[in-house]
Amino acid sequence: MNIDLKRDAAMPLYLQIKEQLQGRIEQGVLLPGTRLPATRTLAGDLDVSRVTVVNAYAELEAEGWVRAYVGRGTFVSDPRRRDEALRGTPYDWESTLLGPSGVSASGMLSDMLDLAQHPDLISFAMGAPATDLLPVRDFREAINQVLRRDGGEALQYDEAAGYGPLRAAIARLLVGDGIQASVRDVVVTSGSQQGLDLATRVLTAPGDLVISESPTYVGALDVFRSNGVEVLGVPVDEGGLRVDVLEELVPSRDPRFIYTIPGFHNPTGVTLSLERRRRLLQLARRYDTPILEDGVCSELRYEGASILSLRALDRGEHVVYVNSFSKFLLPGIRVGYMVVPQDLRERLIRGKQAADLFTCSLMQRALARYLDTGRLGAHLVTIRQAYRERRDAMLAGLARRMPTGTEWTRPQGGLCLWVRLPESISAGQLYLTAIEHGAAFALGSVFFPKNPDPSSLRLNFAAHSPTRIDEGLRRLGSAVRDQLRRSVDVREKQYS
Ligand SMILES: Cc1ncc(COP(=O)(O)O)c(C=O)c1O
Repeated sequence: MNIDLKRDAAMPLYLQIKEQLQGRIEQGVLLPGTRLPATRTLAGDLDVSRVTVVNAYAELEAEGWVRAYVGRGTFVSDPRRRDEALRGTPYDWESTLLGPSGVSASGMLSDMLDLAQHPDLISFAMGAPATDLLPVRDFREAINQVLRRDGGEALQYDEAAGYGPLRAAIARLLVGDGIQASVRDVVVTSGSQQGLDLATRVLTAPGDLVISESPTYVGALDVFRSNGVEVLGVPVDEGGLRVDVLEELVPSRDPRFIYTIPGFHNPTGVTLSLERRRRLLQLARRYDTPILEDGVCSELRYEGASILSLRALDRGEHVVYVNSFSKFLLPGIRVGYMVVPQDLRERLIRGKQAADLFTCSLMQRALARYLDTGRLGAHLVTIRQAYRERRDAMLAGLARRMPTGTEWTRPQGGLCLWVRLPESISAGQLYLTAIEHGAAFALGSVFFPKNPDPSSLRLNFAAHSPTRIDEGLRRLGSAVRDQLRRSVDVREKQYS
């Protein structure tokens, strides 16, 4: 084959070969189906290395001009195939998705994040603490001190179980909550979200059943669904999880575990009474059912006597405890932890390793340094006072702005409360009207494992100042009235 190579040109030899062969294919000199010379033969004819010809053919094939068949040679392609290769037909990902598809069924978490960013909107939608109260200066100092002290070590790979001094600091903090845990019992996770996921992976197989409160934290539902686990919901009332209902269900349904948020439950804000905590633990012992306890909001109490966690009351190692520094310190550092029974420890650490190797070493060290300074105590005093004022502003605003027939919870702590609208209004319809009025909330229905209550919604009372809360509720109140008028109009039209 006659190919003219310019050995002193800037264009590499393999590209010169590719261009000239491509030109001949385009001009129809080399027709579809024509076999190109074997690489060894062409290399010999052109006095170049075989690799040069192999590279030229590979380029032609990548662009769809030729196709190589092992043992048979390289052939000029059919122009239709070439067009396809040039266009780069998108890969059909949908047809390859085999895993459970329940992740963020509602896309609610990302919608809520988007909404919260919109400057004109007052959003009560997120489950987040207040940005204006995050201890930014103290944490910056801690980061700088760690970088000065540890240098590259602070930015190296780290242990999957977590940075030792941080685990020790967590074990010391837990003593204050009545939890006796050794450093070995503590495993650092990337937020408590990862703790929920690791526990679910270790304790369940696809198709298994777990029991949770109904409603419950939507991110936990995402974890269960994405692990192919079925969720049975048990109602909550002012005293928290209805343990009496649970007592009926556990013996017959034999769940792999019971997931509960006993302190300032998300989304309702209610707290599980001490008496129910004891009964729940008895139930766990009687039927050998593990409990996955989520303590993320329990630090944020504004009134009333504190109640020991299930993990603190547990005497039989039935509880796997997850918690984090997200709600009372800094959600963005993504540091959480588990307190785990020793028999599960290795499995959980291996799961952690498989998921993300370890939690950011700089953040773990900076957090350990921050805890060492002893400033957490003062920070907790500040935020508890501010959140209490904000909660009170929201309770007062709801009483002032909402029409009769609206009900809400009165949490003693946490970040959120739960509202039930008058029967005739659906929260789903109100959602868009509220956005038109400049306020947003989290739709209650996404928090239910099944059979959602259409009239419910969740409001975050912690994220805004009292003045902004009042303005947000004024907007929400006028949206509710607007929606009430619309539903009356619809009914009148129906019956006229
Ligand atoms: C009840 C509950 N558990 C767990 C999480 C996950 O939080 P993080 O991963 O930041 O600890 C949240 C976050 O909103 C939550 O409300």
